[in-house]
Amino acid sequence: MKKKIVLGVTGSIAAYKAGDIIRRFQEQNCDVTVVMTKEATEFVTPLTLATLSGKDVYGDMFCASNWNMGHIELSKADVVVVAPATANVIGKMAHGLADDLLTTLLVTTRAPIFLAPAMNDDMYANAIVQENCAKLKKHGVRFIEPTKGKLACGVVGVGHLADVQDIVKTVLKKIS
Ligand SMILES: Cc1cc2nc3c(=O)[nH]c(=O)nc-3n(C[C@H](O)[C@H](O)[C@H](O)COP(=O)(O)O)c2cc1C
Repeated sequence: MKKKIVLGVTGSIAAYKAGDIIRRFQEQNCDVTVVMTKEATEFVTPLTLATLSGKDVYGDMFCASNWNMGHIELSKADVVVVAPATANVIGKMAHGLADDLLTTLLVTTRAPIFLAPAMNDDMYANAIVQENCAKLKKHGVRFIEPTKGKLACGVVGVGHLADVQDIVKTVLKKIS
């Protein structure tokens, strides 16, 4: 049976890689449902990810036509992967906040959660961001660590989204 993956996409410049992540999971016989934050839609369109996933993309918490696919239904996935994960979503999660569909689903789900952070190196090195990551790890959230590379701002530093194949491999190893 196909593994059910919910892919959370957040407002990082690396959001454009979500399409590739969807495709790589599909190649491994996974069923991918995308949940986007409002900010993610500034970087990649829901239409692009709906086309690649072959399914509706979710984002609006209060959309009447999503009545049967709200946070509770979405939370029943085999795994929830947030890639890329912003400092903002990591911070909200670390504090149990649930103010949009993605963060509400993250609070609801009993499935394993993987976060693949992507951000500027100074953001990633920020003491509070690091504290939030450490807190989430203590609570069983798994991290696919960002790598050192050329960041969108032009500097070379740690904050680059992990390699797409590594993300897919790490997640599948846990749920296979
Ligand atoms: C061009 C641009 C690129 C950004 N890239 C990132 C990023 O890679 N990582 C990050 O944590 N925030 C990034 N941000 C800031 C987030 O978009 C911002 O914190 C937003 O509120 C995140 O919303 P979300 O976490 O709900 O998706 C970027 C903002 C802009 C304008």
